[in-house]
Amino acid sequence: MILPVFLYGQPVLRKEAEEVPSDYPELKQLIANMYDTMYQAEGVGLAAPQVGLSLRMFVIDADVLGEDYPECQGFKKVMINPEIIESSEDEITLEEGCLSLPGVHEKVSRAKQIRIKYLDQDLKEVEEEIAGFAARVVQHEYEHLEGHVFIDNVSAIRRQLNKGKLNNIIKGSARCSYRTKAVGK
Ligand code: NI
Repeated sequence: MILPVFLYGQPVLRKEAEEVPSDYPELKQLIANMYDTMYQAEGVGLAAPQVGLSLRMFVIDADVLGEDYPECQGFKKVMINPEIIESSEDEITLEEGCLSLPGVHEKVSRAKQIRIKYLDQDLKEVEEEIAGFAARVVQHEYEHLEGHVFIDNVSAIRRQLNKGKLNNIIKGSARCSYRTKAVGK
């Protein structure tokens, strides 16, 4: 089932999300719905707050980026209650976008490599090292669980330059090809 994507300005995107309880009802269905929603919107990652649920989980399928970033080939994961336990000091700056901020693209610096632990879709504990663009996608989604969005990381000047676009998103007048839920609509 495709869910509406909550857009910039929605309070749920600014909340620190809650841990997913181990007895969360219909977790499998939620994961399937989040994948459906992400694919339909042509995104490579989607965090639960983006579908209005203040829960610490996200889905990623970065395989479409595999040609430019080989580390993304087959990189499809569900991360539940993730915790980044190490971030490299080395950073890379690249352009990002977000399904909750349609039409906004800005360069963001992120750690080149991270070490993360999380529960997978079967609630099995996993700990792994992730590098390159895949690490960027994970850090972007992780940030959603902390109540942040990528535009928070850019300079005040760059944010100011996006003011018009951001206001249109809040008002619900940003053009978008997928189902959304804006504050003003
Ligand atoms: Ni995002």
